[in-house]
Amino acid sequence: MGFAYRQGSLHAEEVPLEEVAQRFGTPCYVYSRAAIESAYAQFSTALAGRGLVCYSVKANSNLAVLALLTRLGAGFDIVSGGELERVLAAGGDARKTLFSGVGKSEAEIAFALERSIGCLNLESEAELKRVDAVARRMGRRAPVAFRVNPDIDARTHPYISTGLRENKFGVPHTEARRLYAQAASLPGIELVGIGSHIGSLLASAAPFVAAAERLVALADQLESDGIRLRHIDVGGGIGIRYRDETPEPVANFVSGALGALGRRKHALILDPGRALVGNAGVLLARVEYLKPGAARNFLVVDAAMNDFIRAPLYDAWHEVRTVREPESNAATAVYDIVGPVCESADFLAKGRQVAAREGDLLALMSAGAYGMVMSSNYNSRPRAAEVLVDGKAAHLVRRRETVGELFAGERIPG
Ligand code: LLP
Repeated sequence: MGFAYRQGSLHAEEVPLEEVAQRFGTPCYVYSRAAIESAYAQFSTALAGRGLVCYSVKANSNLAVLALLTRLGAGFDIVSGGELERVLAAGGDARKTLFSGVGKSEAEIAFALERSIGCLNLESEAELKRVDAVARRMGRRAPVAFRVNPDIDARTHPYISTGLRENKFGVPHTEARRLYAQAASLPGIELVGIGSHIGSLLASAAPFVAAAERLVALADQLESDGIRLRHIDVGGGIGIRYRDETPEPVANFVSGALGALGRRKHALILDPGRALVGNAGVLLARVEYLKPGAARNFLVVDAAMNDFIRAPLYDAWHEVRTVREPESNAATAVYDIVGPVCESADFLAKGRQVAAREGDLLALMSAGAYGMVMSSNYNSRPRAAEVLVDGKAAHLVRRRETVGELFAGERIPG
């Protein structure tokens, strides 16, 4: 959805990627508005008004993406004061925003309360005490939920698995009742929900639904303790297809969680990131050099690990397409697709059969989530431009950084 060949050339909706590259240069992230909208519709349809989709801002925090999701009715899941500022700048509603993360500072907590955050997802007893103190100082009650660690194996990459006992996230589910009772006695705290997030890139709904069942059972116990919650937040983590994976449809995750909730009146909250934007974006790069070798052939392109780090960091596989549709008899070779950064880990893909010449454009597919947001300025490389395509229109939604901006904050002493 969003990206397809038309008349021999790869398009984002109705705009040829050639044209995007000519207008805005490369490397460049290109997003499809229709693809984001259709991914959002899958969630909202399945949810059928029984809760809220809180888009996980960390996946792609461009203001244009946040504004689009705001217009569609989404709330947000954030992990920093910076992300809250982005949500507000994009016109998002703080009251529909959840603040997660193990290390919220006092300043971040105060800022969130001042802006009437919907819920602070607490991850430790120490944080409960801090939030209570900050809220009291401000003469407020902080709406909170505990993020409970359900100790369920999400069966995903260890770096993106978060629901096991050994992870730093959440409070153990065995301690949840005690913590809720303690929180209920604090004047600066208003208990509004319970949450969990077991990990990212889940292919199967079963562990997700198991975590939802565990949360619902806890909410029932809390209710018998006299603590009534308004929402159950089952997290994000719904996987997408990068290669040949066959993740269960979004509707199975949502209906499984709704099934766990049964006839209870709680609102169901989901906080997907990747499933909303992952397949809605590509990273466009130009081939600088062909470098055949004895052991490996390299295609050196103008995008690098500083622009997109998922391959070296997680062993992630992303499809590489030439923007010009390959002809059936085109000469191909097997290449490692690498960037100009001085690291052997600087690759976007390895061992790919590609028909490419110097100057050709390539698209790294499914780069809409955890692409631009994880980019850096390593090797003093300015960060890429970002473009949002809507039908026939291509909007520059972030201009390319300049080298001057990279060292604008630096000073030579004396
Ligand atoms: N909710 C919470 C509390 C989370 O920690 C996360 C992601 C999400 C929702 C959204 O997960 P998603 O639906 O996008 O899977 N950089 C890694 C992914 C890290 C995910 C961290 N937490 C990657 O590139 O695969």
